[in-house]
Amino acid sequence: MQKNITIYSEKLAELKSIYATRELKNLPENIINFSSNDYLSLNADADLRKEFLSNNRIEEICFSSTSSRLLTGNHKSYILLEEELCSLYKREAALVFNSGYHLNVGILPSVTEKGDLIISDKLIHASIIDGIRLCKCEHYRYEHNNYNQLEELLKENRNKFNNIFIVTESIFSMDGDVTDLQILVNLKNKYGCFLYVDEAHAFGVRGTNGLGCCEEQNVIKDIDFIVATFGKALASVGAFVICSKLFKDYFVNFTRTLIYTTALPPLNLEWTRFLLSKLHVFNNLRTDLMSISNYMKSELNTKEGSHIIPYLIGDNKKLIEISKKLISNGFYVLPIRYPTVPKGQERFRFSMCSKHKTEEVKTMVGLLKRLEGI
Ligand SMILES: Cc1ncc(COP(=O)(O)O)c(C=O)c1O
Repeated sequence: MQKNITIYSEKLAELKSIYATRELKNLPENIINFSSNDYLSLNADADLRKEFLSNNRIEEICFSSTSSRLLTGNHKSYILLEEELCSLYKREAALVFNSGYHLNVGILPSVTEKGDLIISDKLIHASIIDGIRLCKCEHYRYEHNNYNQLEELLKENRNKFNNIFIVTESIFSMDGDVTDLQILVNLKNKYGCFLYVDEAHAFGVRGTNGLGCCEEQNVIKDIDFIVATFGKALASVGAFVICSKLFKDYFVNFTRTLIYTTALPPLNLEWTRFLLSKLHVFNNLRTDLMSISNYMKSELNTKEGSHIIPYLIGDNKKLIEISKKLISNGFYVLPIRYPTVPKGQERFRFSMCSKHKTEEVKTMVGLLKRLEGI
């Protein structure tokens, strides 16, 4: 038997034929970026970096942890960061993971068993889907944000399963729309289920202290697993889950993506702590983000989304052509194609940042409309 490499080139050719090839691109310099998750423009803030580096003990901080958290990698910065998260959320436990991907791939497979059921929104992120694929339990999906259908599924199935986990995002990564968490809390209480909410795109951006939609909608204490990443609005790396002490202990013992990986470098944890300590004072940035997002929506003539604004083109080829022209004119707007979004819903996903200017938005949208032929 010979190894078969043609199947790989054929698969790539197939992607090419539908204009769906992915590439690792380099961000051009001096370009206005409408595709990043630097929602509060913290990553772009050189003064913050300077302030952090001026800490006179910075040289004592290691650049690697060289070990899993379960061995010698559980640096003091982890303990402090988790204590700080607990006091911000006023909850009893927080657990930091290497990334949102690690967290989402690890938690659900560790906490579910055969005989359990996961019911998720149809549009949850790939990292949660990958976690669910590793679960031994059943998985049903409801139409995006269709709470009536979710209730029907709960009514029909509550007595057929042991534990049921409702899984959603609070601001959806590709559609930017906001979930009504109070409805989900009511449903999880009524049917005796667990609620898992991924706040990846809301943490830092929503709520008076930037804690996310759970803070904004006043349901922090009611959600079993509040999940968020430090890699987007907080401009760092890593992720965390807010949960009960029981579940923290459980994850430390059973969640493989926490146990079998080298812990984050203390330097990154300290940068996260530095930014987290300022999260509540970034309200002006949250307000700027909200107003520039509203301006963008009015220019695009859409009511959809939040600081993430979807703009459907629905055709990979046209999407790529427009994207190339926007980029060559100084606006970094990447195409979001199938299979990241369903077929026919290929789109631009405008990611707004607090530092975007109205003139930049106006010029970009004018150009977009001309390219679209509107
Ligand atoms: C909803 C959601 N959850 C989780 C992740 C993964 O987080 P991380 O980038 O920290 O791995 C992302 C994006 O990357 C996301 O959009």
